[in-house]
Amino acid sequence: MSRAVMAMGGPAANARELFRDAGLERGPDGVLRLGGVSLAAVLRDVGSPAYVYNGGAIRERYQAIASAFAGIPHRVHYAVKSNSSLAVLKILKDLGAGADIVSGGELRRVTRVGFDPKLVVFSGVGKTDAELEAAIGCRIGGINIESAEELTALERIVGRRSVEYPIRLGIRVNPDVAAETHPYITTGAGGIKFGVPTEQVLGLARRIAGNPRFTLVSVAMHLGSQLLDPAPFANGAKKLIGLIDDIQALGIRSIEAVDVGGGLGIRYRNETPLEPRQLSEVLAPLIAGRGLVLHLEPGRFVTGSAGVLLTTVLYRKRSGGKDFVVVDASMTDLVRPSHYDAYHEITEVVARGRPVRNVDVVGPVCETGDFLALDRPLADVEAGEHLAILCAGAYGSVMASNYNTRLRAPEVLIDRGRYGVTRVRETLEDLLRGETDDPFHR
Ligand code: LLP
Repeated sequence: MSRAVMAMGGPAANARELFRDAGLERGPDGVLRLGGVSLAAVLRDVGSPAYVYNGGAIRERYQAIASAFAGIPHRVHYAVKSNSSLAVLKILKDLGAGADIVSGGELRRVTRVGFDPKLVVFSGVGKTDAELEAAIGCRIGGINIESAEELTALERIVGRRSVEYPIRLGIRVNPDVAAETHPYITTGAGGIKFGVPTEQVLGLARRIAGNPRFTLVSVAMHLGSQLLDPAPFANGAKKLIGLIDDIQALGIRSIEAVDVGGGLGIRYRNETPLEPRQLSEVLAPLIAGRGLVLHLEPGRFVTGSAGVLLTTVLYRKRSGGKDFVVVDASMTDLVRPSHYDAYHEITEVVARGRPVRNVDVVGPVCETGDFLALDRPLADVEAGEHLAILCAGAYGSVMASNYNTRLRAPEVLIDRGRYGVTRVRETLEDLLRGETDDPFHR
């Protein structure tokens, strides 16, 4: 889908389905509840803006994947990058999920929460020596290498330290499969930075298999994000399995898994989301009878719908023939609208039956691109009233920044009818820590 298409109008979001995905409901009093808890009460307590996640919805989404793939040997490695809140990670760890990580920082998070290192896989085009060393030290389930030079770095690392067990490696392949999504989140097409081109895979497999300190355990891909069609997954998986056949024909018999990455799309507006069962139906026949375990790395599907960003209306203004609603959340809290022209449904925290008008919902940041919604029909809210921005559970808080010296919002988990703060609001002291105006003075 082109950037322009994503930005354009179209039929209004299907509120009932969006609410169901998230575990949202509106009581007769007009108050929005997430997982049974009043979001007005959460706001009174923790202030605004704030991220709120529904633990029950996260469990449901994870279980939907687990049950769709129950008939196939599989393992789910939750993509930590989509929402790396320790409390969210803990929920997923307790459900038996593994983790897909992309940095030493994410490794720290998953070990802190107690994920079994054997269930952790590490992808990424630019792993540093320190990150590779940390992953080796934790004895994780797999390091997915993304270039020949990364393998050289690993050879150098194992050459200078004693490693008493073989290091489990995967090859992240660029299968050159086009998938329909925003160009910024396409990752499996040719000519982009991710993965190893197919023609280099056999050479790398030979190098790995020829080194007794390494074991080649998987071949992996990740096609892109917010995918709504199972066909690219099937095409990519076929290519990976063809490569596994070629590798096995070289006499290399250590491969245990085929990793199809993440990318299952969700409903933001009126999309038909990709149901896990549609994916299991196309993938099951491909791996049947091969003795391979299917690895999946969903992020957005698990957490995306299950979170909202709460914000407060600061001002309204009319300018250039347009109506603006200025809120206290901005692109520093949720960058997806500015960065991808992404659509996020916005609804009042307390519905008051006001008339609807088309407005731009904008933040305080000094950028014209600082918007959360453009030309959006919205109830006529007033200063001091609150809005909930939906589908903000994935790639929301994790992509927040401190631009304009803004504080990152707190994160709250609702679970089993209760809520608790999982990360407190940042303070100015947090922000200024480590800075000095006098770098020459000792
Ligand atoms: N595995 C790998 C290797 C990945 O690179 C990603 C996402 C995933 C799994 C999880 O993909 P998911 O199931 O969440 O689609 N910031 C963008 C999305 C970037 C995705 C990057 N890689 C957004 O807000 O849409």
